[in-house]
Amino acid sequence: MATERTFSILKPDATRRNLTGAVNAVIEEAGLRIVGQRRIRMTKAQAETFYEVHKERPFYGELVSFMTSGPVVVQVLEGENAVAKYREVMGATNPAQAAEGTIRKRFAESVGENTVHGSDSAENAKIEIAQFFQDSDIAR
Ligand code: CMP
Repeated sequence: MATERTFSILKPDATRRNLTGAVNAVIEEAGLRIVGQRRIRMTKAQAETFYEVHKERPFYGELVSFMTSGPVVVQVLEGENAVAKYREVMGATNPAQAAEGTIRKRFAESVGENTVHGSDSAENAKIEIAQFFQDSDIAR
């Protein structure tokens, strides 16, 4: 399996509860390397673009409003099979269904306020990384 990159967001519920370090520890313990990281306040336009695939979903407005409600930490994670590995480490979208030891089982409050986002494919990871990072922001 080749070295791969995935895109991660520590969501406003994580920054609000001072969980950046705790979540990063889980990420690093899983063998993923944080090669890019920036704390930002997402604009409404950025959140709308990022979640455009969910535009028709009933929770879209709530999702955009939550993601702009406080600072987020955007990250580029690198490692073997990084996309699948990070999804495993995050756990199911709904924390009630997430496996023991996963980030969402340990920290998430609800399906909406679920602490982290991770790309669902290598192809989407590239698109998502390009929305928030330039190559010069990433150091290996
Ligand atoms: P994320 O991986 O960031 O991608 C889409 C997000 O939509 C997802 O995580 C959830 O936080 C959010 N989401 C999914 N289902 C619901 C729901 N039923 N209500 C509110 N938010 C949701």
